[in-house]
Amino acid sequence: MDAMTISLRRPDDWHLHLRDGEAMRSVLLHSARRFARAIVMPNLRPPVSTVAAALAYRRRIVAALPPGSNFKPLMTLYLTDNSSADEMARAAECGCIHAVKLYPAGATTNADSGVTDLRHCTAALEAMQSLGLPLLVHGEVTDPDIDVFDREAVFIERVLLPLLQRFPDLKVVLEHLTTRQGVEFVRSAGERVAGTITAHHLLLNRNALFAGGLRPHHYCLPVLKREIHREALLEAATSGSPKFFLGTDSAPHPRSAKESACGCAGLYTAHAAIELYAEAFEQAGALERLEGFASHFGPDFYGLQRNKERITLRRETWRVPESYPLGKESVVPMRAGEHIAWKLCD
Ligand code: NCD
Ligand code: ZN
Repeated sequence: MDAMTISLRRPDDWHLHLRDGEAMRSVLLHSARRFARAIVMPNLRPPVSTVAAALAYRRRIVAALPPGSNFKPLMTLYLTDNSSADEMARAAECGCIHAVKLYPAGATTNADSGVTDLRHCTAALEAMQSLGLPLLVHGEVTDPDIDVFDREAVFIERVLLPLLQRFPDLKVVLEHLTTRQGVEFVRSAGERVAGTITAHHLLLNRNALFAGGLRPHHYCLPVLKREIHREALLEAATSGSPKFFLGTDSAPHPRSAKESACGCAGLYTAHAAIELYAEAFEQAGALERLEGFASHFGPDFYGLQRNKERITLRRETWRVPESYPLGKESVVPMRAGEHIAWKLCD
């Protein structure tokens, strides 16, 4: 390995929105070129809340892969007020479903079928705890009285800490950490708790939402935070702690849905995901820690094998296209028309 290339065990993406149909077929290869596996989010319309729906969705993804691709979608179920213990048992048994996602009702894109009160989910959560099926958490309260920038910290106090007490063995991933409080929570919780971190939260703070004007393509949920929070995330990701691992939260929306009077939340980063993480780790002077974060700690947490293949990144600047196709529409990727310092070698 020289200074101009880095080689790492092929990484996995532990939080990805692939969408469905034509849009899915447009974006899938960006992830499949880089990652061996991805935890696929279930927030379709209608949500993927049954084993049958998850298996059918999985078949559609696999059918869209080009011949020779070994990319493996790891499916999740969408937790609702009606999720049953039996469905959780079937999920754990089928071998293709690796986690269950908690969206507080109304918290984000397609979260209207989300959980209104976790007390409705006791039976499902007890089953998950005994089956070892992790709960993936969108950690934001939805109370309109709580400032948008405080919603993660308040969720931890109000919802997550009591949940961990009620279910002392439940495996929990606090997804897309965005705050110092989130990092501190994951660090101080036991081994069964981990957190994913996106590339965009490592590279951007909330100024990026307003740089020279309103920037809808930098709007996501949880929303970008202050610089002190970005620094805490970068410190956590590059610390070598196995509690923090890669989850892009790449979330494509059509350009028209973003450039709107009420724009959708989500950044598209799948086109350059591992390259963007490499930039962030390089900024922190911690490139040698990228492999643990991207390729080791995720499978270790989920009880899966680490990948055997490797990928290589070259230090070469390239210009990101202004947009990529998204079904009949287009998606504006992170860094559209700008440069990225690392390139994936085939
Ligand atoms: C995600 C989406 O568009 O599905 N959006 C986002 O801003 N991250 C949903 C989510 O993960 O919150
Ligand atoms: Zn997401």
